[in-house]
Amino acid sequence: MLRVSLLLCFLLTIKSVSSSTDNFCRDDFPLAPAFVFGASSSAYQVEGAAGEDGRTPSILDTYAQAGHFHGATGDVACDAYHKYKEDVQLMADTGLEAYRFSISWSRLIPNGKGPVNPKGLQYYNNLIDQLISHGIQPHVTLHHSDLPQALDDEYGGWVSRKIVKDFTAYADVCFKNFGDRVLHWTTMNEPNVFVLGGYDSGFSPPQRCSIPFGLNCSRGNSSTEPYLATHNILLSHASAARLYKKNYQDKQRGFIGINLFAFWFFPQTKTIEDELATQRGLDFYFGWYLNPLVFGDYPDVVKTNAGSRIPFFTRLESQSVKGSFDFIGFNYYTVSYAEDNSISLKSTNRDYIADSAMKTRLLKCNESSFEYPIAPWGLQRLLEYMKQNYGNPPIYIHENGQQTARNSSLEDRSRVKYLRGHIQSLLAAVRNGSNARGYFIWSFMDSLELLNGYESSFGLYYIDLDDPDLKRQPKLSAHWYSHFLKSKNLTSLDGFLESLSHGYHSQ
Ligand SMILES: *[C@@H]1O[C@H](CO)[C@@H](O)[C@H](O)[C@H]1NC(C)=O
Ligand SMILES: *[C@@H]1O[C@H](CO)[C@@H](O)[C@H](O)[C@H]1NC(C)=O
Ligand SMILES: *[C@@H]1O[C@H](CO)[C@@H](O)[C@H](O)[C@H]1NC(C)=O
Ligand SMILES: *[C@@H]1O[C@H](CO)[C@@H](O)[C@H](O)[C@H]1NC(C)=O
Ligand SMILES: *[C@@H]1O[C@H](CO)[C@@H](O)[C@H](O)[C@H]1NC(C)=O
Ligand SMILES: *[C@@H]1O[C@H](CO)[C@@H](O)[C@H](O)[C@H]1NC(C)=O
Repeated sequence: MLRVSLLLCFLLTIKSVSSSTDNFCRDDFPLAPAFVFGASSSAYQVEGAAGEDGRTPSILDTYAQAGHFHGATGDVACDAYHKYKEDVQLMADTGLEAYRFSISWSRLIPNGKGPVNPKGLQYYNNLIDQLISHGIQPHVTLHHSDLPQALDDEYGGWVSRKIVKDFTAYADVCFKNFGDRVLHWTTMNEPNVFVLGGYDSGFSPPQRCSIPFGLNCSRGNSSTEPYLATHNILLSHASAARLYKKNYQDKQRGFIGINLFAFWFFPQTKTIEDELATQRGLDFYFGWYLNPLVFGDYPDVVKTNAGSRIPFFTRLESQSVKGSFDFIGFNYYTVSYAEDNSISLKSTNRDYIADSAMKTRLLKCNESSFEYPIAPWGLQRLLEYMKQNYGNPPIYIHENGQQTARNSSLEDRSRVKYLRGHIQSLLAAVRNGSNARGYFIWSFMDSLELLNGYESSFGLYYIDLDDPDLKRQPKLSAHWYSHFLKSKNLTSLDGFLESLSHGYHSQ
């Protein structure tokens, strides 16, 4: 077994793009603002100051306080709440053209609804002004897993239709106060996996699930709630987007979209069953959100398999969701096998996973390391799939990056290899007509990671958590990205490493 999977890992990772893009540089892409390069973060994962200046807990705080991030919390995190000035300076020094961050809803509007917190307003105004004054575009996400705990307590958050009104009012505060400077709004970060962890397996916040699909939840229904939460998320997105288009877009001239998590699925075997499972995987993971957004309804296979457990769109709802975006954001990390599991449809008690009738299997090249197999060709396939099946909408790669053990070496060659490979694939896709408009590395600096707490990290900058100053230290990948962004003439990776090998160690 081990030998087989290592061999497949090798095959998966070497498939590469055409040699016409072997040597490439930043200016081979359209120049900013037509195409931007940046890096990403999210509020709870970097801000810290969790109980400061009027912020109240989100469902992530509750989860962290219960010990689920391996004992870690975002109480301090990177302390970005206090260090935003030096962080923006570092972004400018690195050469970032854009920075993607999220607003903490419960910092801006402490109970999720009602009065705005002036200190929260001040913080985001300061951060945005700082970015603008350094020539860095702010790309802002409104919901990045951190629903205010107060709304979860009051009516169950995303499982209630009441969320549509409160989310829209929150979005309105953001558009009104920040929209003169923020031109790129993303309503939701990867809701397609947020609802699976939060409402099916119950593994992640808000930890709703039911037996036998999830084991440890005190409330929830894994058979229905992933579909219900998704429906309310789509309606909330559409409502905020409609508000933006109606009241703000003409004057502010910005754009609004939504973000999804994307594996590229790959059949486990060449059998027709696994080929069909692969298509079903695409329909369940992307089509579930993209079909309503582009065509106004869920994919047929999702409706058929979920039956009466999936809410249906009224004609008005369908019209409001259809076309309610200017761009789609993707968080792409790696490829996953898709394997037929049609037998799951024989059970009458099913959750989303059973309805999909397929199994995903993430490949690991090295079981004892956090690293993802490097499969940039999956990104190229994803973009081609969007072109052929969804009308080639504008796309931002909102997250892409390599995970390593947090304390591994600053000389993160595997991250450099990963990033370079993906940017190269992206260039090939752009040259072949993809409407991609930007690329953001996850993450700018080592953050609180939602799967592994502080044990793994994705940052270009390392932070030693035992250092009281939480100094940001550049990894090799920070140097490489900076070189890529500033140099007009990037040659080979080996050439770069060669040219850096003296300078790097002396920094
Ligand atoms: C459920 O909770 C028990 C006890 O807290 C724990 O040992 C177990 O790992 C949990 N199972 C899951 C699937 O989270
Ligand atoms: C989940 O909801 C369905 C549909 O309303 C219902 O048939 C089922 O019994 C519920 N399951 C649980 C565990 O409450
Ligand atoms: C696998 O990962 C571990 C931990 O990062 C590392 O020590 C080991 O050398 C790796 N093995 C291979 C074959 O790369
Ligand atoms: C990382 O390094 C710090 C300080 O050197 C140490 O306290 C911590 O235990 C290390 N963490 C891991 C996961 O090795
Ligand atoms: C390039 O685009 C064409 C037209 O969409 C498509 O047929 C072809 O497969 C694409 N090539 C790659 C490598 O994606
Ligand atoms: C740019 O790279 C090419 C090789 O790709 C090399 O021939 C040329 O001299 C380089 N120019 C500069 C200014 O470094």
